[in-house]
Amino acid sequence: MSNNGEREQWGSRIGFILAAAGSAVGLGNIWRFPYITGQYGGAAFVFLYVALVFVIGFSVMLAEIAIGRRAQLNAVGSFKKLKGGAWPLVGWMGVAAGFIILSYYAVIGGWTIKYFIITWTGLMEAGAAGKAGDVFGGFVTNTPQVILYQAIFMLATIWVVYRGIGEGIEKYCKILMPALFGILLILIVRSVTLEGAGKGLEFYLKPDFSKITGDTFLAALGQAFFSLSLGMGCMITYGSYLTKDTTIPSAVGQICFLDTMVALLAGLVIFPAVFAFGVEAGAGPGLTFVTLPSVFSQMPGGPIWSSLFFILLFIAALTSAISLLEVVSAYFIDEMGWGRPKAAWLMGLAIFILGIPSSISLAGNLKIAGKDFLDAADFLASNVLLPLGGMLIALFVGWVWTESARKEVSNDGTYEFGLMDAWIWVCRTIAPLAIAVIFWKGLKW
Ligand code: PHE
Repeated sequence: MSNNGEREQWGSRIGFILAAAGSAVGLGNIWRFPYITGQYGGAAFVFLYVALVFVIGFSVMLAEIAIGRRAQLNAVGSFKKLKGGAWPLVGWMGVAAGFIILSYYAVIGGWTIKYFIITWTGLMEAGAAGKAGDVFGGFVTNTPQVILYQAIFMLATIWVVYRGIGEGIEKYCKILMPALFGILLILIVRSVTLEGAGKGLEFYLKPDFSKITGDTFLAALGQAFFSLSLGMGCMITYGSYLTKDTTIPSAVGQICFLDTMVALLAGLVIFPAVFAFGVEAGAGPGLTFVTLPSVFSQMPGGPIWSSLFFILLFIAALTSAISLLEVVSAYFIDEMGWGRPKAAWLMGLAIFILGIPSSISLAGNLKIAGKDFLDAADFLASNVLLPLGGMLIALFVGWVWTESARKEVSNDGTYEFGLMDAWIWVCRTIAPLAIAVIFWKGLKW
């Protein structure tokens, strides 16, 4: 990809959907969704989450992809080209958010590698003996090891981004998605048939709306933006590689649906097992990693399922990490004229360094105002920067770039999008207002 040459494009419509879904589906669905759901009380949170995905998430994703495809540039360049003024700051904020998210994302990505390896060296036995929590605790407090795996994960991410878009990303996603779906279905069967699973199903599926407060809304909103890769220009960047004849709304619908399905299925694996094995539902970031080994240990061929699962989770995390590094690199490539290798390596290295405090904080003694450094970085990115970015992107389409947005989404009038007016309306009023109210009611440290 270069400044003046032909911009690289996705091989096909399905290639784009897979790549965008590859960005969306990742640790957000399998690591973050279950533990946040557990912390915010279960089913009521899940309902709220799904509603926010399909009203606000869908609309913001459509906006981002339209912006990117029209401008054919990275997040910052797109705003410069389409409007200028202060708008490129939205893109800038996105680059910063990508930087922060990838810094700790790579730490969790490293866990998947570690778990793949220890599957064969004692994880199953520990799971069977109810000691999966000890294994997790022992690992995350071993800081040099956590940093080592973080580094390996970061290297893999840099490697793919450095090789460029089409070749790298599409190929992996085509195999990954169906495989991940398949293995989740198998795990659900095992999990819901465990003794005591019923309580977990109830927690996860039977809503108690009295549990909902302002910060439940904010948590659900942050999770929606995080999981759909929204609010930071990732979908702007991916949209910029999209061909002109693709119908954007149906692609966006499919990506939102797929991403939500994977999260809901992951919850259906985790919560029955959480209750069957007596794990604390609000246990926090370790939830998936503490629960699953026990599930695997109760399956015939447990180590095989376990290693398969952690490989798939690693690839899912990698395809998301790639999109994060791509947002940051695309900025330096398009705007600063850097070569792709330089952008990928230098930014990758900087992001790795910023992630080290997150790795250290897992041992429990690196806090910012009472939160572990990793949690603080996650809170800042997911609950502040992404929703704020999403709000500004919605306002941009709703008030500033409205007519061109209509044109872009209808492929210059050749395609009729039935919900066009509703979408513009959501961008103009509903999404910005909802996000503003959620901030106002829910934003506390
Ligand atoms: N959506 C990714 C996940 O669920 C994380 C991500 C966030 C990727 C923001 C890109 C941008 O794991």
